[in-house]
Amino acid sequence: MIEDDGTSNHSGNRPFDDVLRAHISRRGALAGGAVTVAAAFAGTGGVAGAQSTASSSSVAAGRRRWSRRDNIDFAPVINADTFGSTPVISSDYEYDVLIPWGTPLQPGGPEFAYPPTSAAAQEQQIGIGHDGMWLFPNGRNSALLCLNHEFGSTSHVLGKSAPESVEDVRIMQAAHGVSVVRLQREGGRWAAARSRKNRRITVNTPVRFSGPARDGDTLKTPANNAPAGTLNNCANGYTPWGTYLTCEENFNGYFGATGPFTPTPEQARYGLNAFGFGYGWFNFDPRFDLSNPDYSNEENRFGWVVEIDPRKPNDKPLKRTALGRFKHEGAAIAIGRGGRAVAYMGDDERFDYIYKFVSSGNHRSMLARGQSPLDSGKLYCARFDDDGSGEWLELTIDNPNLAAAFADQSEVLTYARMAADILGATPMDRPEWTTVAPNGDVYCTLTNNSRRTEPDAANPQAPNLYGHIIKWTDSDRHVGTDFQWEIAFLATDSHGTESQYGSPDGLWADPDGRLFIATDGSQPDAQNNQLLVANDDGVMKRLLSGVPGDEITGITVDHDRRTLFVNIQHPGNGNPALTNFPAPTDGVTVPRDCMLAIRRKDGGIVGS
Ligand code: FEO
Ligand code: CA
Ligand code: CA
Ligand code: CA
Repeated sequence: MIEDDGTSNHSGNRPFDDVLRAHISRRGALAGGAVTVAAAFAGTGGVAGAQSTASSSSVAAGRRRWSRRDNIDFAPVINADTFGSTPVISSDYEYDVLIPWGTPLQPGGPEFAYPPTSAAAQEQQIGIGHDGMWLFPNGRNSALLCLNHEFGSTSHVLGKSAPESVEDVRIMQAAHGVSVVRLQREGGRWAAARSRKNRRITVNTPVRFSGPARDGDTLKTPANNAPAGTLNNCANGYTPWGTYLTCEENFNGYFGATGPFTPTPEQARYGLNAFGFGYGWFNFDPRFDLSNPDYSNEENRFGWVVEIDPRKPNDKPLKRTALGRFKHEGAAIAIGRGGRAVAYMGDDERFDYIYKFVSSGNHRSMLARGQSPLDSGKLYCARFDDDGSGEWLELTIDNPNLAAAFADQSEVLTYARMAADILGATPMDRPEWTTVAPNGDVYCTLTNNSRRTEPDAANPQAPNLYGHIIKWTDSDRHVGTDFQWEIAFLATDSHGTESQYGSPDGLWADPDGRLFIATDGSQPDAQNNQLLVANDDGVMKRLLSGVPGDEITGITVDHDRRTLFVNIQHPGNGNPALTNFPAPTDGVTVPRDCMLAIRRKDGGIVGS
């Protein structure tokens, strides 16, 4: 991602300072990891020093196991090999490069040109900023890939520092969004293929709202313009009913003001200001101009989880308001007691929160009645208590404290961050991806927080330079309102030559209990970003090292888990002096966001 440099949570939810030591000793006792914890508590943030050999043994401590033993035996990429200008992969693996930015969406479509020639061409090509994704099998050797295009910097996309025309802005907008593209397998290798289902969804594609805030005043604009588009599509989810969830993260960065503008408290809480992140769209597209009264509330139309059915290319993407509006990272789905659909979601900003949604009924029954399980249910935010327990706090207008602050449930959902402030959710160190392990444990990456000055039980490092991964077990099979939690990994726990890392972000638990961890941000010794595989035996190994300036993200697999797909996002941050990956082809030197299809050389299960 492009990091939002702001911190918009000034709610002062800091209830844990006084209980940190109690929790730390609990964790130390559980894990036998007292040395690690002491180092963390001292705020060293250091990775290079080998203060501890406790490593990730805390994962296994005192808990039922979820991974099979000895399920990770590949030769790791060692630290010395993590500085390449092309990706370095385990010697037991190989990879192909697929669908770099600008690839024609259909064979014979407009070819990549740099700088891009027109928005019309970009709309018929794969976008930039490959991020969350999921592969939906569609026949034995065919599958539909849904792929997020989170963002591309203006200099990377346009080759200049700012848009100079509405056409420049349209090119940028066409490079963002989502692609649906069919992949076909021949001889064990996947490649993009023609399909009537291939499509691009951009910020100008018609969309629909559904759920409790659909008809609320917060989503109405004076211009009465039809809802359009999805933006800054970061991580993702996938449902048992075969749909894709794309999650809108840093939408605020695209808005700004051409005239006098003072943010409302609601706008300020979502990081909206007169300048944005420098995309400059508001100078040419009035939808993104916060000082244009015709489009007031347009910003409330972003920050949602959006459902897409890859098999229905003519359906409008659906914004599911019941899941709340914040800077959504991902949405990991579990099926809980009574067949309820449960979504676990992080809000990626310093000191923001973790949420879950629980559908009102059995997901199959709801679908059979023509009702989406994601339209009706309860939304909660998480409070992590010092003793290793926690509580899910419901965001409902039936709560008198919320009724005093909001007019209706539409407002509660649209300003979910502010409702969670009032409820006393725990401010976390930038919640990124969530995943549900085969035993029901839920994991969330907390990528880093350079601004934390006071540690608490769930965020025990201050500053938290390299991040950590937290896990919890909900009561009542995902449906209950209380949970037990512990720190699964401190990034500083892991400092071996096969696994030192920082800034965990992408996360996926496979059915055998391997945890895939992708990084985005500061790495020890300024290594390139990387992909690691871990299990609860305390094994963690680096499978892949990326290229300078990139992040590794987007984790999915094919039908039989013989191919793992991950993305190289913003290689070189667009700067060909850092890397040309995956160029050169036909004189292209600009680095391009792309996907890697990774296989074991012996044809085994990926991650093994
Ligand atoms: Fe789009 Fe939080 O990364
Ligand atoms: Ca990203
Ligand atoms: Ca991310
Ligand atoms: Ca990140």
